[in-house]
Amino acid sequence: FSASRTPPYCFLSSLRMDHAATAYINGEFLPLAEVSISPLDRGFMFGDGVYEVIPVYGGQPFRLESHLQRLDNSLDAIRLANPYSHTQWHTLLGQLIEKNQSGDQSLYVQITRGVAERDHAFPLSAAATVFAMSKALPASQQAAVKAITLEDIRWQWCHIKSTALLGNLLLRQQAVDAGCDESILLRDGILTEGAASNVFIVQNNTIKTPKKSTRILAGITRGIVVELAKRNRLDIAETDISKQKLFGADEIWITSSSKEIAPVTELNGQAVADGQVGPVCQHMQTLFSQFKMQLRAGVAG
Ligand code: PDD
Repeated sequence: FSASRTPPYCFLSSLRMDHAATAYINGEFLPLAEVSISPLDRGFMFGDGVYEVIPVYGGQPFRLESHLQRLDNSLDAIRLANPYSHTQWHTLLGQLIEKNQSGDQSLYVQITRGVAERDHAFPLSAAATVFAMSKALPASQQAAVKAITLEDIRWQWCHIKSTALLGNLLLRQQAVDAGCDESILLRDGILTEGAASNVFIVQNNTIKTPKKSTRILAGITRGIVVELAKRNRLDIAETDISKQKLFGADEIWITSSSKEIAPVTELNGQAVADGQVGPVCQHMQTLFSQFKMQLRAGVAG
């Protein structure tokens, strides 16, 4: 066996991704295919980092301040200082959006504890690694999905948007293996969230979603849905949801930056209610689309 001298980025050329896309790494804008990271980076070694996924509509990042606030919360929880101020983030991400054709896109931002000799304890001095890239928004937003329920086997600190996602990956893959799109997770018989989404149910016209806690990620899309429901005087409760309530729901939806509001029409191989997209979901999707249109026009925050 002889080690290939091919630079790592050449492998990227075989991947179906936009390598011409401009990415950001530690102070520099570069084509994504030219970004390289040390194998000693603690993000690679340990998953010692946090991330954000920020949708951009018509060149306008969606709820950027909420994403930056959640990034701060995640960084505080892992005891890593944010290398940039919010103003610096606004400038940096604004430049990244412009360099990637300004329109609709999805930004990915990752901060790790940097490069250091491998040791579980934090390095005494290491500069954080800051990486950001842009990719196309997925085409399947708002599409109906099939889901399965699984026991939430992840760690106890699911409010941190950690790059250490092995639990989430294993759970999502079980859904894929079952011909489904998402896993809906239960801890001790209580709904937590999806492997990569938050979950809502509708019961007798009341929208319900698990309350914020360390068991779930406080999704930005979840936050907008709660806000839109309140603003439009729909009944909404942030509350515990039992397995029985989930299975008896009139509607189930999942929300995330990449799926927006996606109705779950099949759960564990059974139709949810009549298997059609429910009226409350349709209403919320319309409100959400209006909100996006306003954002595009520069009149919503
Ligand atoms: N994931 N819960 C988990 C575990 C998630 O991974 C996500 C999103 C959400 C929804 O959060 P938001 O509405 O802010 O996207 C909830 C992103 C999209 C991802 O990992 O790609």
